[in-house]
Amino acid sequence: MNVADTELVMGILKNKGYEVTDNIKAANVILLNTCSIRENAEQRIYGRLGNLKKIKDRKPETVIGILGCMAERLRKDLIEDKKIVDLVVGPDEYRRLPEFIDSAFSGEKGIGVKLSRTETYDDIIPYREEGLSAWISVMRGCDKFCTYCVVPFTRGRERSRSLESIKKEMVILSEKGFREVTLLGQNVNSYLDGGNDFADLLAACAEVDRSIRIRFTTSHPQDLSEKLLYTIAEHQNICKYIHLPVQSGSDRILELMNRTYTIEHYLDIINKARAIIKGVSFSTDIISGFPSETYEDHIMTLDVMQKVKYDGAYMFKYSPREGTKAFRMEDDVTEETKSKRLNEIIDLQQTISYELNQNLIGTEEIALVEGFSKKSDEFLAGRTDTNKVVIFPASDDINTGDYVKVKINRATSATLFGDLLEVVLPYKVLTTI
Ligand code: 5AD
Ligand code: SF4
Repeated sequence: MNVADTELVMGILKNKGYEVTDNIKAANVILLNTCSIRENAEQRIYGRLGNLKKIKDRKPETVIGILGCMAERLRKDLIEDKKIVDLVVGPDEYRRLPEFIDSAFSGEKGIGVKLSRTETYDDIIPYREEGLSAWISVMRGCDKFCTYCVVPFTRGRERSRSLESIKKEMVILSEKGFREVTLLGQNVNSYLDGGNDFADLLAACAEVDRSIRIRFTTSHPQDLSEKLLYTIAEHQNICKYIHLPVQSGSDRILELMNRTYTIEHYLDIINKARAIIKGVSFSTDIISGFPSETYEDHIMTLDVMQKVKYDGAYMFKYSPREGTKAFRMEDDVTEETKSKRLNEIIDLQQTISYELNQNLIGTEEIALVEGFSKKSDEFLAGRTDTNKVVIFPASDDINTGDYVKVKINRATSATLFGDLLEVVLPYKVLTTI
């Protein structure tokens, strides 16, 4: 999400004649895009600010700005007290950034941290480096108010971009040769533009260019519709991969988290998806050590992981966020217990990923070639629909951006290895269903 927002900011600044540099010493303006989702994301920013202070001391005319979710929280501290930064701009005020920068050049400090109910930056084309994969932000904000989460406060109310402008962006990406697009939103399933819901948007994007593979994230279990499942099943260029955060395996904890579903309902969705979409797989987010979580609750989380067998998981220790409802609950699971439980969750996920990958030995997988493998130029690396890395011997007639069919002959918990069978042209892969 923040990479997408950074591209948006670069788009806004490019329109005003600014150029991007990767030489920090040459920069006249340095902007840091921040995230508040968990404690350690915030800690990292404090580290970076220390470095920026040195640059500012050496070259005081450099304009330094903080963007994103930490803006509201940091404005007093950074502008008034520590005097490190010249501007602080929150996620809904990026249009005013050029104006703030102009004022900062003449010595004025700028603060823009208001949230908006309508801003979607619909008309702004993000600045993207050339490449294979791109993000399109399709909505902003979140109305779910999970009790641990700061997003509804830092990014404001849910609002969707227009389907037409998203389709236009798809066309631009297609013309530029992108081969993979991820549609982004905190809760994409509540996307709504007039009569068009997220399933309509997904279908419209998939139809723009059949050789572009479409991914989307994140789905909330409450809003994932059957129509969406059928849409995924019907379009071969929509990845059969759903990121469906479960957060906890305990109904009691889910209720305290205000997640608005039970595990029974969650597993129902998983089963329905498996019945409708052949070969679908799932990834998830899990939080360990939410207030009052008992050992039994934790076991229920391990249990749901066993039942679903996720392809991948993002796993976190609970960290209290100021302003949220859970912040007022007692953070009563000790750090040690949180870590212990998190490690058990990570270990189990690794075992599951290993098992799932072992089951793929002997099967044929289609992957989008991303380039040479990290370890050797004699091997190429691609990624499957389900986001797994596949390594296979390089060959002169295979290029980055090709879809290839690979027969898997070995696997670890993180990577598949195989032999190249053939290059599959997009029209062959993607038009038959
Ligand atoms: N503590 C730990 N994890 C959190 N997440 C969101 N807020 C918190 C928090 N306060 C996790 C959730 C969410 C993901 C993006 O970040 O699992 O799905
Ligand atoms: Fe946060 Fe919940 Fe919204 Fe996700 S759905 S962004 S966890 S409030």
